[in-house]
Amino acid sequence: MSNAGDFAPNTKTHEMAMEDKITSVSKEKRVIKPAAEFQKQANIGSMTAYRKMYRESINSPSKFWAKQAKDFLVWRKPWNKVVEWKAPHAKWFTGGMINVAENCLDRHLGTARENKAAIIFEGEPGDVRTITYKQLHGEVCRFANVLTRLGVKKGDRVAIYLPMVPEAAVAMLATARIGAIHTVIFGGFSSSAITERVNDCEAKLVITADGGYRRGGVVELKKNVDEALKKTPSVEKVVVVRRCGNSVQMKKGRDVWYHEELEEASPVHKAKGFSSENPLFILYTSGSTGKPKGVLHTSAGYLLGTALTSYYVFDLKEYDTYWCSADVGWITGHSYVVYGPLCSGATTVMYEGAPNYPDIDRFWSIIERHRISIFYTAPTAIRAFMRGGDEPVKKHDMSSLRLLGTVGEPINPEAWMWYYKTIGGGRCPVVDTWWQTETGAIMITPLPGVTPMKPGSATLPFFGVEPEVVDDSGRKVPKNSGGKLVIKRPWPSMLRTLWGDDKRFKEQYWSQFPGIYFCGDGCRQDKDGYYWIVGRIDDVLNVSGHRLGTAELESALVSHADVAEAAIVSKPDEIKGSGVVAFVTLKAGRNGSDNLKKTLREHVGKEIGPIARPDEIRFTEGLPKTRSGKIMRRILKEVASGGDRYGDVTTLEDFNVVARLAKTGEDE
Ligand code: WTA
Repeated sequence: MSNAGDFAPNTKTHEMAMEDKITSVSKEKRVIKPAAEFQKQANIGSMTAYRKMYRESINSPSKFWAKQAKDFLVWRKPWNKVVEWKAPHAKWFTGGMINVAENCLDRHLGTARENKAAIIFEGEPGDVRTITYKQLHGEVCRFANVLTRLGVKKGDRVAIYLPMVPEAAVAMLATARIGAIHTVIFGGFSSSAITERVNDCEAKLVITADGGYRRGGVVELKKNVDEALKKTPSVEKVVVVRRCGNSVQMKKGRDVWYHEELEEASPVHKAKGFSSENPLFILYTSGSTGKPKGVLHTSAGYLLGTALTSYYVFDLKEYDTYWCSADVGWITGHSYVVYGPLCSGATTVMYEGAPNYPDIDRFWSIIERHRISIFYTAPTAIRAFMRGGDEPVKKHDMSSLRLLGTVGEPINPEAWMWYYKTIGGGRCPVVDTWWQTETGAIMITPLPGVTPMKPGSATLPFFGVEPEVVDDSGRKVPKNSGGKLVIKRPWPSMLRTLWGDDKRFKEQYWSQFPGIYFCGDGCRQDKDGYYWIVGRIDDVLNVSGHRLGTAELESALVSHADVAEAAIVSKPDEIKGSGVVAFVTLKAGRNGSDNLKKTLREHVGKEIGPIARPDEIRFTEGLPKTRSGKIMRRILKEVASGGDRYGDVTTLEDFNVVARLAKTGEDE
């Protein structure tokens, strides 16, 4: 799997690289087989079974999806047609009627799950609430009645701006139950982000809270909503959840308390069936520039995608306590905190606060306290914990864990190994799941128990997913060459359009390769058919004619024992066209010296090849990240070339990081 050949100084390669190829430089070779113990009990028990089912899903998709839809969902009325595909528009299970909330709640009543915990909630101050399926059903029914009384009807948009509290799930499910469309706005966003999203989808009602706990303080959510609603003509009502007890202003005629409304509402609500393609939610995702995109998901296909992946990828069992640490403001929170696990009758854990509050071991104490068996988090969190060393983990009993997952970014092999060994004790398979807001559900992933894992690779496609790595003209590139990742056929949980902007939907995802979905990521497929995401195409560097993905270079830096995290960008270079600048954060207690800079440059040279050796290394305390933890290389690029035009920074987690970063170059 070595790609040393890619660096042979031969003109032909050089020209091709200039054209459209991405040179892949990763030399990762480890293969880790899942433990026999795990395999024995896994929901899919062998590679042969996976390959057989995968083949069926590709060769007879209608038959395959019809069977899954019957097995995993409850229907009010069966569908006539599994899929209608007029590229780029798909309709799944047309003619069918379904209620998403009924699939997540009512179906479990009258079964052994009725009194099982649906949600275990832990607030940042340490308060814990356990809500059974029966209780959750009751609360959702009441709130569905409240929404109806407040004038919300099928197709209306409801904006949800809440902390990570159970009421967020209640709000989503109640909205779905009456056929309305929710748009969850991440609780860390500012009022201008609320205004923009509410106006784009013309939401009629907003659900918020007085506040939420974060790092020991109270984030005043209602206050942000008040500010935002000065410029949102569509909003008629605001429902306010009391979480922190901080004082808020209630506008007469517009604002009502959640608990007061609920008290008066009937717990009986008869759910109606809605068509399979009834819109379920809009989730805004930031493009690298400009206005956020309102990704639209609909009902049956989306729910099927999340339920099927929950079962096979997370290997859900009746006795599991499952924790996905994502916020409901992101797609991961939608699909794998709420819809997937609840549709599967699982116990899903919600944690309100910061990962390092009051200490860096908060996550591990949650795992110990609730005896969590499945844990799903982001590489950025894993690297942050790794930075703090093994001690905080060792303080806790992690023996309840049996499966680990990651999502959101390429995970560098060093972080993967740390996660596997230190968190998973070497006994838990790690599922590195590649997917997007747009795909709705996991697309490329190992199946735990069967897929031999390669640290850093999301491995193989899930059922019904047909990926390919292509060059700019859409031709499949040879194995081990880099290219663009496309998905060649529709899948049930795919986005249907961008809200109010079908033109942008077509341009963004379907114009590069007509009829084929382009996801925006660079990728390489190795000789075993495994997929390795090398980063976003927009971030690809061009160095002396080689196009290099950021993920592999960063991973080489992080493989050095002193480095916690790294981000690579290019900057204009008179001789080479562009030079490589590395922003590096060090592990706790390490010092950034000129000597270390030299060592790191040599380290990368040794790991990858001289071409990739960073021209410049800058040590920094933190990297600019989006609130979902992705590094904002666009900003680093600007810093690296000495500019200060950062563009849209509303999704930036902490602007101070940028201010400090700008200083990192001053001693050069
Ligand atoms: C990246 C998150 C490598 C990728 C569910 C994708 C990943 C973008 C992985 C979507 C992974 C996500 N390996 N890269 N396992 N998972 N990505 O919309 O660039 O927040 O296109 O959805 O994250 O991010 P989004």
